[in-house]
Amino acid sequence: MKIVTILGARPQFIKAGTVSRAIREFNQNCSDIQIDEVIVHTGQHYDANMSDVFFEEMHIPKPDYYLGIGGNGHGAMTGQMLEKIESVLLEERPDWVLVYGDTNSTLAGALAASKQHIKVAHIEAGLRSFNMRMPEEINRILTDRVSTKLFCPTQTAVDNLQKEGIDNWISAEPASLVGDVMQDGAFYYDGLAVKPEDIALTKNFVLSTIHRAENTDDPLRLRQIVSALVEIASHQQVILPLHPRTKKIAEQQGIDLSALTVIGPVGYLNMVWLIKNSSCVLTDSGGLQKEAFFFEKPCITLRDETEWIELIEAGVNVLVGASKSDILSAYNTLSEKSLEFDQAIYGGGVAAQTIVNHLVGKS
Ligand code: UD1
Ligand code: UDP
Repeated sequence: MKIVTILGARPQFIKAGTVSRAIREFNQNCSDIQIDEVIVHTGQHYDANMSDVFFEEMHIPKPDYYLGIGGNGHGAMTGQMLEKIESVLLEERPDWVLVYGDTNSTLAGALAASKQHIKVAHIEAGLRSFNMRMPEEINRILTDRVSTKLFCPTQTAVDNLQKEGIDNWISAEPASLVGDVMQDGAFYYDGLAVKPEDIALTKNFVLSTIHRAENTDDPLRLRQIVSALVEIASHQQVILPLHPRTKKIAEQQGIDLSALTVIGPVGYLNMVWLIKNSSCVLTDSGGLQKEAFFFEKPCITLRDETEWIELIEAGVNVLVGASKSDILSAYNTLSEKSLEFDQAIYGGGVAAQTIVNHLVGKS
């Protein structure tokens, strides 16, 4: 059986790395079916520290196709990807196209496949922020709608699809609750974490990342967030591995980050070390909210809504938006709480294997 995996952005390398390992393990252990995985990298993320580092560290096979499409606006990027992925699919004729998450690469892969009547499997299906201004929300709704297998990380995601009427979608099988592949990855790489070199770290630091369009493209929000981080840095070191999008905008806007420990994007092994050794995480990242949870760190989410509402309900994640006073108030009250991190929420770390079994019909 042949699967074409479409990826292109950092979180997809991390998720696909885990599923690709599960595919190789399946091939080693199964005598009657073998999976041929063809990897297509759209090029959406292209810097070495946003892409190559993950392939090297996570031993993801080198992409069979590199499309070299990145750094454009939404329309040009998605359109060029659609055209080039279509050519790859005409050549490869896979049984399944596997797409991850909610980026422009996800949508382009799902559209290219469904227009050629190739079945789409969506990993991280059913997540919703209910904010249609987010490019990610548009990408995930449209991707779900043309997918056949919808692999949901949480019961909330299954419920979302049911509310949208998945039972009446002609292309879709019933939603599958499989757990979160990022949890598999976090558990696997836990023991392999590496301390970043060349950074002077204090014993007690907080870890922050900012890259979402809703924060970076709104100068007021970005300034408020940075101002809160600068205030926190007067008590506690703030490590900020800076996404290239945010770096570019902060430079353009003249936003002063000098009070923070700004470093370039780091590889996953360094990132896991930073999460594990931080006292808390402040982020607008989807993936990092969950990783904070997997490594039992409280998280302050710099967004107005989150797709990972189980974390809010469990009291381990506080949704604060971009208001300086709300961020500081959450930061100041966080240490007073005693928190519980029930890892069963995300399936317990066997999602990738479950997904592979579903794809080969052995579930
Ligand atoms: C994308 C996803 C977002 C995801 C994020 C993960 C979409 C719509 N957005 O956002 O959902 O959370 O990836 O990190 O797909 N850039 C570089 N080097 C790189 C990559 C990007 O310089 O290797 C710069 C370019 O100026 C580019 C900008 O970052 O224009 C934004 O990149 P893009 O892929 O469009 O969106 P992200 O903000 O990374
Ligand atoms: N990450 C990383 N290095 C960094 C910043 C993030 O390895 O410098 C990892 C992070 O641990 C998580 C993933 O990238 O696994 C999240 O990606 P990102 O925040 O870019 O996107 P999102 O999850 O918001 O779509």
